[in-house]
Amino acid sequence: MSSCHKAYITTPIYYVNDIAHIGHAYTTIIADTLARYSRMSGLDTFFLTGTDEHGQKIEESAKARGKSPQEYADEISATFKNLWDEFGISYDKFIRTTDEDHMKGVQKAFKVMYDNGDIYKDVYKGHYCISCETFFPEIQLVDGEFCPECGKPTTVVEEESYFFKLSKYQDRLLEWYDAHPECILPRSKRNEVIRFVEGGLEDLSITRTSFDWGVKLPEELNDPKHVMYVWLDALMNYVTALGYGTDEAKMDFWPARVHLIGKDILRFHAIYWPAFLMSLGLELPKHIAAHGWWTRDGEKMSKSKGNVINPKEVADAYGLDNFRYFMLREVPFGGDGDFSQKALIDRINSDLGNDLGNLLNRLIGMSGKYFEGRVDASDTPKYYQQELDEVEASLEKLEPLLFEMQIHRYLEELWRPLTVANKAIDRYQPWTLMKEGKAEEAMALNGLIATILAKVSVMLYPVMPQVCPKIAAALGFTIDNESWQKLIKDKKLIEAFTIEKIPPLFPRIEEPLLEQEKPAETKEEAKKAPAKKEEKKDEGVALIGIDQFFQTSLKVGTVVKAEEVPKSKKLLLLQVDLGEEKPRQIVAGIKEWYSADDMLNTQVCVVANLKPAKLMGYTSEGMLLAAKDEDGLCMIRPEKPKKPGTPIG
Ligand code: MSP
Repeated sequence: MSSCHKAYITTPIYYVNDIAHIGHAYTTIIADTLARYSRMSGLDTFFLTGTDEHGQKIEESAKARGKSPQEYADEISATFKNLWDEFGISYDKFIRTTDEDHMKGVQKAFKVMYDNGDIYKDVYKGHYCISCETFFPEIQLVDGEFCPECGKPTTVVEEESYFFKLSKYQDRLLEWYDAHPECILPRSKRNEVIRFVEGGLEDLSITRTSFDWGVKLPEELNDPKHVMYVWLDALMNYVTALGYGTDEAKMDFWPARVHLIGKDILRFHAIYWPAFLMSLGLELPKHIAAHGWWTRDGEKMSKSKGNVINPKEVADAYGLDNFRYFMLREVPFGGDGDFSQKALIDRINSDLGNDLGNLLNRLIGMSGKYFEGRVDASDTPKYYQQELDEVEASLEKLEPLLFEMQIHRYLEELWRPLTVANKAIDRYQPWTLMKEGKAEEAMALNGLIATILAKVSVMLYPVMPQVCPKIAAALGFTIDNESWQKLIKDKKLIEAFTIEKIPPLFPRIEEPLLEQEKPAETKEEAKKAPAKKEEKKDEGVALIGIDQFFQTSLKVGTVVKAEEVPKSKKLLLLQVDLGEEKPRQIVAGIKEWYSADDMLNTQVCVVANLKPAKLMGYTSEGMLLAAKDEDGLCMIRPEKPKKPGTPIG
């Protein structure tokens, strides 16, 4: 049984039918933040994430790509793991539902539930949505056919199936919700679940015979044509990761402190999962926390609209920690959030740049000018006790807010000490204090500012784990359990030290750093112009007239300067002589194949009449012609040197 010194934190395991997007990154980053805080505050922490790899949807996705489900799952699972590694996500285990141990554990659970009479065999008749991997009673279908969750057509299924006696647990579930007001967060979501359960629970079909890609039933049941329902398989990951059914050494982390999920999968976690656990005789999780949905510029994200946000691109362009801060600060947990570059830039420039970064710069400036970089907070309580009290009052509220999932309020509250600090400088004016010969008071003020920055950087660390250690280093300390204990729990001040100058942490961003997609076509427009859509889809073979071709101005150019675009893995920044007054600036996505040196002084073919575009903050005034296949990319160049600006065509 988990003691209060242990914290087990989980994300959902992600389906391997798609690559990671901002929604996945959001859940994972919240969980990472909680895990980092737990560790820093001295809890024995276990943070689990992973991939959900079985089920009909994945079997079909693999088939569509001509791959075996295992090959396909290996490939996509690795993209998730790599992304989390690049993001420095501090998971302790990355589970895959195709892991042997996991599958054994699921079989064990099935057997326990079967043996205690909670599983029986019958015939399932009903409607199944493959996309949501969910059965729906006819009454819930839209127009008698379509899935109420995603709108896709459902399939009528009539097959032999094993059932879990979910209905038996209805009352016990309601008792649990009642006795634990915080078991589902935010609390408003708990009411939704209660209403649903009060409406009556039907037994749950937990095996399928119409496909193969899943965990087989325990051998003792001798029923090889069944595979387990993917949600039973998937939910069990939370205990199989701790060794349930195999090596149970880590089971003392159970029950989970929190399962972080999106609101779309609340029903599975808040109804099915506790019922399974009751049947297994295991404790129930402390919290199930459901966050809201991210949209982009006010619209739902979808592949067909081409407006899905790639978290890596955003993090590369704006900085990972800035992106983390934005996501956690921008939306109240549980509410839906909208991603726009404008909102992100505002947060970086205002909260991070003005309130935090500038405060550090002011401290570096003041201490450098008056005290050769020295800071000493010994006299701070003598002059600034009121400010210190205000700061402590805010800091005290933080930890409960974090574990109640009020992360946006946590950050809001964490900003109050920064306001206290900035106001104190404006009000007491160290330059005036120095003029009046009150050096002791001015030093105490520096001590106040340094102490506030130190405490804030400790508490901000779980959200911004790359930037905060830099602030701490400038202030001469390290963020760890010891400093957390001293500065936060024991409410001590920072000791005397010499400040180290560091470059500004949050340079101002003036304009979007990522190229904006074309506005997505609305559904109405798409309906009105189907022909246009077809034409677009078959771009590769569409026939055009010679006049259309000549609307493109193609020219030979010479690369006269080539350098890398900072922080970009793909882009080179080129100056290309096209025989015009000055060279054109072209941002080319070729860095994976050509270095800046490779490109310098070579000739290229340029589309010269494209509208200028912005990429990572740089204007690009043309495009290079290149050919790309599975072996890579190569430039298209004139066979013999030609004068810059020579037309092609
Ligand atoms: N495999 C199941 C979970 C099983 S857990 C035992 C699954 N996978 S998922 O990949 O489809 O979704 C994983 C998480 O991503 C869910 O919590 C879901 O809410 C979240 N998101 C998917 N799209 C999202 C947004 N656009 N915005 C926010 N989160 C979203 O469900």
